[in-house]
Amino acid sequence: MIDKIENIKADVSAYKIPDAETLEQFRLKFLSRKGLINDLFEDFKNVDRTQKGTVGKALNELKNLAQSRFDTIKEKLEKESSKGSSIEDYTLPGRTYNTGTKHLITQALEDITRIFERIGFKVAGGFEIEDEYYNFDALNTPDYHPSRDMQDTFYLDSEGKGKSYLLRTQTSPAQIHVMQNQPPPVRIISPGKCYRNEAISARSLAMFHQVEGLYVDKGVTFRELKGTLDYFAKEFFGKDLKTRLRPSFFPFTEPSGEMDVECYLCKGKGCRICKYTGWLEILGCGMVDPNVFVNVGYDPEVYTGYAFGMGIERTLMIRHGVPDIRMFYENDIRFLKQF
Ligand code: DAH
Repeated sequence: MIDKIENIKADVSAYKIPDAETLEQFRLKFLSRKGLINDLFEDFKNVDRTQKGTVGKALNELKNLAQSRFDTIKEKLEKESSKGSSIEDYTLPGRTYNTGTKHLITQALEDITRIFERIGFKVAGGFEIEDEYYNFDALNTPDYHPSRDMQDTFYLDSEGKGKSYLLRTQTSPAQIHVMQNQPPPVRIISPGKCYRNEAISARSLAMFHQVEGLYVDKGVTFRELKGTLDYFAKEFFGKDLKTRLRPSFFPFTEPSGEMDVECYLCKGKGCRICKYTGWLEILGCGMVDPNVFVNVGYDPEVYTGYAFGMGIERTLMIRHGVPDIRMFYENDIRFLKQF
């Protein structure tokens, strides 16, 4: 009997079990109720009493050996088959996915839009390619104005088209499109890209964003312009940053002004960023020039209005303390992730 046990033991150890199918054959052959080991236990009943100790021990060893081979291989096969499947161990920490975010400029345009929508402004579209009439003439900007120079504006090859096409240098032409297409009252903002033939530096790029604003109705005053801009600055920069309005000149507004915000870096004390003035300019504004109303067919004796245009990159540099305008477009994830 001992010999028989030893033979089966050798068989158990040598049995090749590469997959679940052979594992089942192994189980049927050795471990099932009708298997070889159970048969041996049946035979054990007839073993001579003096032999029972040794045979019993050998038999138990055989049974344990077969069982433990079965268990280990079963576990190994299960592990292999679950690899690559999503049903693994539910107690493991979940997989994290890196989701993208909106670009800082997009977020700012949406913020600004929301701030103005709250006080009744609607969003109007515009065109990145304009002709000289919309970008300059209709906006009361004469032929000799320096911004019309090739040095400052990207002109497109418009030969044979009868008009000079260009990449708009400002969002202000949107004002003209809106007023040509509807009678007053008008209360719109128009965000978008603008282009200027600038040398690229920490302060300027050849492409940037602006948001234009326009409000026209009977009896609109400069006081309303100031109130609206104050409201915007408080919403966008927070209540702590001081603002100021100073006289300026634009061909399409009279009188004209510029709004400055306290320098983010020195808080008004004067530093390199603000060229030691303590202030940074964020927008141009003014009362719509009567000539512009005449150009679009509005009666300047009946209507008045205000307009403003702000630079987005510049505004964001102030809000977040971004020292170089190029950072917005370098797509450095370490920078973008912060917003
Ligand atoms: N378009 C001007 C610029 O790019 C900004 C501006 C000034 C817009 C005054 C306006 C305005 O609507 O009234 O510098």
